[in-house]
Amino acid sequence: MNATMSIHGFPTFTSHANRHIILYGVIKMAIQRTFSIIKPDATKRNLTGAIVAKFENAGLRVIAQKKIHLTKAQAGVFYEVHKERPFYDELCEYMSSAPIVAQVLEGENAISLNREIMGATNPAEAAEGTIRKEFALSLGENSVHGSDGPDTAALEISYFFSGLEIVS
Ligand code: CMP
Repeated sequence: MNATMSIHGFPTFTSHANRHIILYGVIKMAIQRTFSIIKPDATKRNLTGAIVAKFENAGLRVIAQKKIHLTKAQAGVFYEVHKERPFYDELCEYMSSAPIVAQVLEGENAISLNREIMGATNPAEAAEGTIRKEFALSLGENSVHGSDGPDTAALEISYFFSGLEIVS
């Protein structure tokens, strides 16, 4: 953690992935970043704006965004953690079947907040009002991906975005 600026003359400390603003040792805010993908089933049905509205209405800000069409190999690297799972090939095939929208979202407790907004991985188990409940087609075609923790978020953001592309 480094002292990077001051607010009203008091030192303010920030860390990179998890930005806490600390005054007199009291944490006032925990601003976090998470990585998000709007998946092929959603981009094909023109749902990008509806999904972004869900994030924004819940208090998350889009601080980086790009629409890209992954190759199967690029999808394979992104989902390498699932390499041994029986659905890995199907997942990589699907993620490279049409364009995706990759995003960095920022806000208080962004990682867990985003997971709440998305809902359970399987839309059959997702809560009312969540993205997956409203839009997902199946467990595989579940409309969105979101990082599951701070380390994963940092890794996933760096796979898709350079520092220059993230505007907070
Ligand atoms: P995501 O959050 O992107 O992380 C891994 C993805 O694998 C997950 O969402 C699902 O879309 C997909 N997935 C998980 N389990 C299965 C499964 N049993 N069959 C097909 N796809 C799956």
